[in-house]
Amino acid sequence: MKDILAELEERREAARAGGGERRVTAQHGKGKLTARERIELLLDEGSFEEFDMFVRHRCTDFGMEADRPAGDGVVTGWGTVNGRMVYVFSQDFTVFGGSLSETHAQKICKIMDMAVQNGAPVVGLNDSGGARIQEGVASLAGYAEVFQRNIMASGVVPQISVIMGPCAGGAVYSPAMTDFIFMVRDSSYMFVTGPDVVKTVTNEVVTAEELGGAKTHTSKSSVADGAFQDDMEAMMEVRRLIDFLPASNREKPPVRPFFDDPARLELSLDTLVPDNPNQPYDMKELILKLADEGDFYEIQEDFAKNIITGFIRLEGSTVGVVANQPMVLAGCLDIDSSRKAARFVRFCDAFEIPILTLVDVPGFLPGTGQEYGGVIKHGAKLLFAYGEATVPKVTVITRKAYGGAYDVMSSKHLRGDFNYAWPTAQIAVMGAKGATEILHRAELGDAEKIARRTRDYEDRFANPFVAAERGFIDEVIRPHSTRRRVCRAFASLKGKKQQNPWKKHDNIPL
Ligand code: HXC
Repeated sequence: MKDILAELEERREAARAGGGERRVTAQHGKGKLTARERIELLLDEGSFEEFDMFVRHRCTDFGMEADRPAGDGVVTGWGTVNGRMVYVFSQDFTVFGGSLSETHAQKICKIMDMAVQNGAPVVGLNDSGGARIQEGVASLAGYAEVFQRNIMASGVVPQISVIMGPCAGGAVYSPAMTDFIFMVRDSSYMFVTGPDVVKTVTNEVVTAEELGGAKTHTSKSSVADGAFQDDMEAMMEVRRLIDFLPASNREKPPVRPFFDDPARLELSLDTLVPDNPNQPYDMKELILKLADEGDFYEIQEDFAKNIITGFIRLEGSTVGVVANQPMVLAGCLDIDSSRKAARFVRFCDAFEIPILTLVDVPGFLPGTGQEYGGVIKHGAKLLFAYGEATVPKVTVITRKAYGGAYDVMSSKHLRGDFNYAWPTAQIAVMGAKGATEILHRAELGDAEKIARRTRDYEDRFANPFVAAERGFIDEVIRPHSTRRRVCRAFASLKGKKQQNPWKKHDNIPL
């Protein structure tokens, strides 16, 4: 018995050593942690239960039969984050560059199947040279098996990808189908074809960092939802995100202890909106003042900043926030902001996370760039996402809600449950100046007349009461009591049940 125990320990030690000291030192030299060190940071101390530690590849080409390290380049298993279960796989770059073989893929598939069956999130820590070159098509088949599971798990359990090294070629498509992608600055990159191929085909000279680093994907392509300084920060922030999310679509989001009074009044909000309608203000201030303990987890912070998306808690329960940001492009909707917010709304709806929408939107951004780029179809994504969402929806219009953008931003007509407006709200087809110039084109030469017409329009329409008269706004509320009103609204919607008609699936304008 003693010998067997010693052998077990020896085998475990060998598996834990990964690709050996030299490669571990090289990994550390690049500022990266090892696959196991990352898991230790991600999970609660001592909670990791490993699967398939002794799995080896079966490849016999290129002399591979002589090199069969235990674990095959990926560490898989489950553990807890603040006591709640998650499944995890962590690719080990020290073993064949973390490349994906048939058996490596099987290990990932096993934990994905268990995650779906048992209703817990999957976190994938990606650090890989891609398909295991020695295995050829068997490796490609392995990727496709993972892809299929990503698709089946979508909307069933939250899937989070963290890119912590290379992620190239077709390998990018597994993270791409998960709910969130995070990257580590300066040590990770993602691209379908690398700088060398780009140079050959298009003659563009670009570095790996420029082509697919964290900055590119968080601010230009929007492929990634956030970037972190190093492996340690990435793991801490993923833990923070998991705390906001339900374990699966069969569960409600977690309720955390809270210390913030739901009836807290914020007198400063009474002066948040400037007197001049063209002057911007920071919508994030409102979000932070509404949230329990001012805690806001922002998603896609560096992309399409004219709309803000992220998670807060109200009375301890997770709420997804979508808010126009008047500080950027006056908060208008455009292609990028519509896509960003639509994806977020659909995530919330899939996982029963109620949505709070804060509106100050002057309309859709005009221009050939927008029209040629398909703003019609992209804007429709957000409209569609709000309209199909059956989760509790509470909307607060702080200032402008003009034109089609008024309809889109979780209006009453798209089954908004509570639609509040501040007294500063202006709900109309368009702003006073634009409207007057169209209605009274013949008088454009007479500045005095036009000014009077504009004032008349403002008096009639630049307020929330025309909409409130029709019941499109449920109540005009005082800004300082917004937290109390919104908390009460969501509390009253806890039992909401709403169903869309049966269909195989919808046909959202992709
Ligand atoms: C097998 C691989 C490997 C791979 C790296 N290694 N990539 N082994 N298959 N794909 C091994 C190396 O031989 C080396 O082994 C160790 O991992 C570390 O690699 P280095 O090159 O020394 O590291 P580094 O200089 O940091 O460069 C990392 C790298 C580079 C940029 C990822 O290794 C690279 O370009 N690899 C090939 C990438 C690639 O073309 N993959 C296939 C893409 S196509 P030793 O023993 O020396 O430590 C693809 C299709 C997926 O993935 C399709 C899905 C549908």
